[in-house]
Amino acid sequence: MNIKKFLTTELMAESAGKHIIEIVKKKPDSLLCFAGGDTPLMTLNYLAEAANQGEVDFGKCSFVSLDEWVGLGKETNGSCKQTLFDHFFDRIPNIDDSQICFFDGLAIDMDAECKRVDHFVAKHEGIDFMLLGIGMNGHIGFNEPGVRVDTYCHVIDLAPVTKKVSVKYFDEEMNVTRGISLGIQHITEAAEVMLMANGEKKADIVELTINTEPTADIPSTLVKNSKHAVLYIDDAAASKL
Ligand code: F6R
Repeated sequence: MNIKKFLTTELMAESAGKHIIEIVKKKPDSLLCFAGGDTPLMTLNYLAEAANQGEVDFGKCSFVSLDEWVGLGKETNGSCKQTLFDHFFDRIPNIDDSQICFFDGLAIDMDAECKRVDHFVAKHEGIDFMLLGIGMNGHIGFNEPGVRVDTYCHVIDLAPVTKKVSVKYFDEEMNVTRGISLGIQHITEAAEVMLMANGEKKADIVELTINTEPTADIPSTLVKNSKHAVLYIDDAAASKL
């Protein structure tokens, strides 16, 4: 896994944004996947501005969601869908809903939801690029420690620390207990995976991710099994290295 370290979060986001723009220029019909959560927001902002200035055109790209809290829909502040729409999809020109395949956290039949999203990825012959954050316990998407590595889309019980951290996203107590997520197989089969972390609170898990052999106990280490993996970190996230 390549590691790229940046002095500031801003420089990291800018470099990530430029890299993603290059990918889209090389393959305009790329299938892209961006995590929700706080980590990618600055990069998404960079991309939205670049798209509005005509530096990149996402008009031929497709997008698949990484994960969603079971029980939450786009209307809920803090859902992954709302985060991605607010910070990216609703801000860029030339995007049609048919290009975007998002988990519906409110779906009655979660198995059908998994099949629908699996089918979308398969139809596109896999994901070209994924931008992933790292949970405090090393989860990627909602692939929590102990996850089966041979999974595609699946529903998973959230780890206690994930439930605890989740309060930062919501205006009120949400009591989320399960997530629906792309699986480790999607991640290891993607053409390129960018794992991203910023801030001192991620320093311990970044150190563990780098210095531990791939293991399902720390899902972020499994990114090393991807075809092409790169870790983007800022100075603070790199402070335990
Ligand atoms: C969110 C997601 C999660 C987050 C991770 C880090 O869609 O997939 O795996 O990337 O929990 O969250 P932040 O970025 O808020 O620190």
